[in-house]
Amino acid sequence: MRLRKFIAFVLVLAISVGIFACSKAQDSFVTSQAQTSATTAVTTSESQAETTLEATSTPTPIPTINPEYIGLSAEEICDLLTIEEKAAQMVQGAIYNLNRFDMAEVCYGSVLSTNGNWPANTCEQWNNIIRRYQAAALSTSTGIPFVYGNDSVHGVNTTTGCVIFPHNINVGAANNEELTYEMGVAVGSDVLHTQMIWNFAPCIAVSNDPRWGRTYECFSSDIEIVTNLGLALNNGMMSEGVITCPKHFFCDGYAAYGTGEDSGGVDRIIDRGDAIVSDDVIQANLDMYQQFIDAGAQTIMISHTALNGVKMHEYAEYIMMLKDEMGFTGFIVSDWDSLENCSGADLEENVILAVNAGIDMLMESSNYEECRQIIIEAVNDGRISMERIDDAVTRILRVKIDAGLFEDPYLENLNPTYEWYSTESQDIAREMAASSLVPIKDDIGLTIEEGSRVFVCGPASDDTGALCGGWTYTWEGSLDSNGLNWCPTGTSILTALENIAEEYNLTIVTDPEEISTCDLVLLCVGEITYAEWTGDTEDLSITGSHGIPGNLEAIELANESGLPTITLITSGRNVIISEYIDNWDSVIMCYWPGSEGGEAIASCLVGEHEYTGTLPMPFYESVEDIDNGIEWLPQGYSAVN
Ligand code: BGC
Repeated sequence: MRLRKFIAFVLVLAISVGIFACSKAQDSFVTSQAQTSATTAVTTSESQAETTLEATSTPTPIPTINPEYIGLSAEEICDLLTIEEKAAQMVQGAIYNLNRFDMAEVCYGSVLSTNGNWPANTCEQWNNIIRRYQAAALSTSTGIPFVYGNDSVHGVNTTTGCVIFPHNINVGAANNEELTYEMGVAVGSDVLHTQMIWNFAPCIAVSNDPRWGRTYECFSSDIEIVTNLGLALNNGMMSEGVITCPKHFFCDGYAAYGTGEDSGGVDRIIDRGDAIVSDDVIQANLDMYQQFIDAGAQTIMISHTALNGVKMHEYAEYIMMLKDEMGFTGFIVSDWDSLENCSGADLEENVILAVNAGIDMLMESSNYEECRQIIIEAVNDGRISMERIDDAVTRILRVKIDAGLFEDPYLENLNPTYEWYSTESQDIAREMAASSLVPIKDDIGLTIEEGSRVFVCGPASDDTGALCGGWTYTWEGSLDSNGLNWCPTGTSILTALENIAEEYNLTIVTDPEEISTCDLVLLCVGEITYAEWTGDTEDLSITGSHGIPGNLEAIELANESGLPTITLITSGRNVIISEYIDNWDSVIMCYWPGSEGGEAIASCLVGEHEYTGTLPMPFYESVEDIDNGIEWLPQGYSAVN
């Protein structure tokens, strides 16, 4: 122990000239999820200048792993830690609250990223930030590497200059396991480049109600498809060495309409609600998680929802089942600030409930230190057993050891399959996007004849943000029409068509004055972008609460022209279009196909790529039909297959 303290002292001394001489400004500059509720909210990242400036200022000598740990097992390392150190491993604060100076004082187990800034950090900036947090963690007397967690849910979507892959709903529409695995490798490869090696993905929620704002995070309404595609994505990412995190355990997607959680001043419609389900549904969902455990997933995130009235974060029976009966050897993480909504009277009671229920790491964006203190006190007065703590810490350490963090804490020896922003990754994303387009009406064909004059209109036609949806740079994403070209690596539908117009002898027209000179209208309508409960709605109409302003005007313009119309819909779900569809000749669901989506759509429209997508979930004609279970088009439908 004395040797340990001495080494720690030397290390702290050595880096004090390095890290602490750096600017006192925080690394933490992303705004919290709660703060980003306006889709238009864009903040300039103050510390981007700081991170760029300090790109070469990693302290020398660089702090390293406490040598006492070398060659030890997770259990043996855990035995060397004090309760204060153990409790620190069990909490995860958010980057906008927990800065590297905090990390240099207490060796916390993890830091959580979030989407909150545009422009987002570049890959190099993320590397610098993570390296400096690591230096701070290793400078402590504990000297255990921290792990950085991020929502790379469709590509490393918190990073400027990345490929934005199609959302899960598109992956479900493509329903191609091989391609999904390849996408997993490409996303995993980008994850390694950024060094945010713990990915809170895949989301394996099962879609049951399109009024839920997280529908687009689901692959399908069919649990078998969710399982197969989720596994393919998970395995592809794991093959790169990414720590994956199937979420949210469990029965996510089944929350009943109207049961949404009322917390933090937000009265939600569905999100975080109560999954009122039968034993069969419970079993099917457990079986799905079993397959992810068998595949070697190392972390699992608990759901914000309740299951038959019990908040999942305190549902010991099922959380412990993962460990005791299902063979899960990794660690379990709570969801963002979710402890606050458990049944305890206050945070203290909720922390104790959650830890005793079997949760190993607490994702508490701002209360991480308070949670650590609560854990320490609860162990000291016997409300949490030391055995439970040792189980949690051993699991966390095991995952870190397996991820190579003890051998290579600065992640210098990662070996991503693809280069950053590689052509291969773009090709995979484009192929996934093209394969995910679903024709739902086909009266005049789905391709544009060579030589046509095409009138392109609608608010989704020239908007890269409308192709990417939520969780794109910021939590909710944004439309270009809010003032910024939201996805600079992306190509809008209009631009993609213009780029190939000459090759296919097309004339692209956008001036309404010239509409009468055209052969065809390409009407591009869609949804605004949103995340989690901000996407909950009781009004699914394409011209309703979540339709892009301007949809109606474009629809009317197309109608008035009397021209044949192909309608493209960019959205996070099957929206309600029954009022309008009779006036449209062909209709293609595009969902949120990502940065390569514009080119993918253009390639299908000119016949370069076939339409192979099928509906990932049912389509309804009205919201009443959702409640009555009356489907207009079933999951698996395509107008051309
Ligand atoms: C979401 C998770 C996400 C976490 C961290 C939560 O609100 O439910 O899916 O991983 O935030 O951003």
